[in-house]
Amino acid sequence: MLKELEAIHSDAISAIAEIADADGLETFRIAYLGRKGRITVVSAGMKDIPKEDKPAAGKALNQVRGAITTAISEKAEALQNEADSKASGNIDVTLPGQPTPRGSRHPISQILDQAVATLRRMGFSLASGPEIETEWHCFDALNTPPDHPARNESDTFYFQDGRLLRTHTSTVQIRSMESSPPPIRVIAPGAAFRRDEIDSTHLSNFNQLEGLYVDEGVSLADLKGTLEYLLRSIFGEKTPVRFRPHFFPFTEPSFEIDIMLEARGKKSKWIEIAGCGMVDPDVFSAVNKARGDSAYDADQVSGFAFGLGLERLAMILWGIADIRLLIENDIRFLRQFP
Ligand code: DAH
Repeated sequence: MLKELEAIHSDAISAIAEIADADGLETFRIAYLGRKGRITVVSAGMKDIPKEDKPAAGKALNQVRGAITTAISEKAEALQNEADSKASGNIDVTLPGQPTPRGSRHPISQILDQAVATLRRMGFSLASGPEIETEWHCFDALNTPPDHPARNESDTFYFQDGRLLRTHTSTVQIRSMESSPPPIRVIAPGAAFRRDEIDSTHLSNFNQLEGLYVDEGVSLADLKGTLEYLLRSIFGEKTPVRFRPHFFPFTEPSFEIDIMLEARGKKSKWIEIAGCGMVDPDVFSAVNKARGDSAYDADQVSGFAFGLGLERLAMILWGIADIRLLIENDIRFLRQFP
């Protein structure tokens, strides 16, 4: 039987070298490994082999079967490679290509790009800070007292170590002033997080655009001019903009900004679009303490800050009725913003 196996092996090796196509290879496979193939026949004869010879015979059978199986798959691969290289010689390079569909920028990115471009022209540069923040950067340094409702666990996502997901991008005001002395003129787009019930106007994860300008003699007039210019560049030159007194802990005075929108066929109305104000001297004191100097001396410098919600801007600009459309990635929605 060992002789027979040796013969099968050497026959197989020389036969397989002659094979020229996949059909030939299949015929070969059937002749050796098929139901009536040579290996199968030898394998059926195992039961007649004397018991003491069985282990050696079994081992030899397995080796030869393994060698033939490997040879078949190597041959199959070689045949395929040959076929592939022949086929690529026949490609007609003058045929039109397959079009690759082009995506487009997400509406939030589009509005952000536009706002950033406008603000950069006015001398603002980009700044950023971490989304996981300390309570100090998110609240204390921004003059927000310990009992302020925004600090409540029901409004803010806290980690066990006391850090939190920033509830606004105003944290970047503090980080920027900590690392650079005045004059400073930065904008910081980024994610903010609140434990809000999600509905057509609220997400628990949304985007803001923060701005901060501190220098000698920065006034409310600079704040108004900058924000009017920004909002009119987005909503149109004639858009009415108003500053309505409000309260934020980190600015004094503080305002909410409204724009007047002409709703088609309906009465125009004021829509709130941003928060802003003159940086509170208490914020400068907190920053100075952290810096260990008095670079932000409220008698020398003053500044303004603002924060815009990007989803809200997009919803107003394009008349998007439900904020959730902005995160659902439904291609039918996104296609409307080429
Ligand atoms: N951080 C405020 C918010 O999330 C928005 C804001 C208001 C930012 C006034 C400012 C500001 O920089 O001066 O509601």
